[in-house]
Amino acid sequence: MRVLGIETSCDETAVALVETNPWSTDILAQVVSSQIELHRPYGGVVPEVATREHLRNLPLLVPQVLKDINLTLDAIDAVAATEGPGLASSLLIGHSYARALAVALSKPMIGVNHLEGHLYSPFIANRRSVEFPFVGLIASGGHTLLVHALGWDRYIKLGSTVDDAAGEAFDKVAKLLGLPYPGGPEIERVAIKGNPEAFGLPRSFPERDNLNFSFSGLKTAVRFFYEKSAQMEPDPVWSYDLCASFQKAVVDVLVRKSVQAVAQARVERLAVSGGVLCNKMLREELEFACYEAGIELIVAEPAFCTDNAGMIAGTAAEKLAAGIEPHCGDDINPNLDLFAPEPEGDMARGLSAAIQLKKRQTDQVPEQSDVPAPGEVEVW
Ligand code: KG4
Ligand code: ZN
Repeated sequence: MRVLGIETSCDETAVALVETNPWSTDILAQVVSSQIELHRPYGGVVPEVATREHLRNLPLLVPQVLKDINLTLDAIDAVAATEGPGLASSLLIGHSYARALAVALSKPMIGVNHLEGHLYSPFIANRRSVEFPFVGLIASGGHTLLVHALGWDRYIKLGSTVDDAAGEAFDKVAKLLGLPYPGGPEIERVAIKGNPEAFGLPRSFPERDNLNFSFSGLKTAVRFFYEKSAQMEPDPVWSYDLCASFQKAVVDVLVRKSVQAVAQARVERLAVSGGVLCNKMLREELEFACYEAGIELIVAEPAFCTDNAGMIAGTAAEKLAAGIEPHCGDDINPNLDLFAPEPEGDMARGLSAAIQLKKRQTDQVPEQSDVPAPGEVEVW
């Protein structure tokens, strides 16, 4: 079975064709058109710019993917597109294009949850079928999430950020330090030259059993040191050290909480995805921590950590192959949730109750200390 996948939830236009076989789902061809250069001058993603680019790119990328493997539209058995969560205007373009294509070809149309795609991406990237149960870490510009994946459509939230996503924190700190968007790769580039122990920056929710994240305190601490530096002699080493210390603080919490989540969920594997997983220090520290704790770490190469259509097509294909009723959504949902209202099973129920209790305890979110800078355009 061959599934064509389309991903347009934010600022990447991505198209992929996958094929299922008895032991895995393989990517036959895929292409991603990044819009980073267009959004960079605004310091973030401008929804209208993203929408226009998706509209322009899709009619070029779909034929390109088919041409890359010498196939025509007849070779497609189903069309899949991201249904949500994401930017409404961006989602609408990919979803509408996919629906129109499915109708024209008289093939099924499948709506895919972007987060489910991220959970699955480490598997497809490593050419293996998904193996439940596992703990998934998603760390991107929009999400920081720890998920206990019990099976298709059976997910339990173990932890999430109470304020900024990890990638968003990288982007905001980079902006504060005068580095371009997106901030993650820029901070990583500068951090290589600095000392990660130079500044004592805070780690959020240090309690062992709390799997939530918070990056606002860390951001405020960086701002404090940055403003202090304005009163001192300019010194580039100082900003190298600040970037290195910030990166280390984010990496520390992501690694520690992921390992803790695996122990708490009593599983053996950790699958990680999202743009922040492109970070070399994070990848290395995760590998080390998982090796020490006897956890199987499944991590994709960077092209599969960031948004891609292979994960969307692959999720649809694997669910179809597993006999799961596909979600033939006839609309997008920018706030699409990943979590079933009622988890099943004793362990799931126990975990869920514990999480609800913890949530009530941590619902007193720390004061947001930063106010978004006024911009000329709406930046997402
Ligand atoms: O998954 P992604 O491409 O898009 C979203 O769904 O958000 O993630 C983009 C985020 C941005 O915030 C970017 O700064 C961050 O991932 N990122 C990184 C690195 N590369 C991208 N963060 C830290 N280190 C990196 N090398
Ligand atoms: Zn994403």
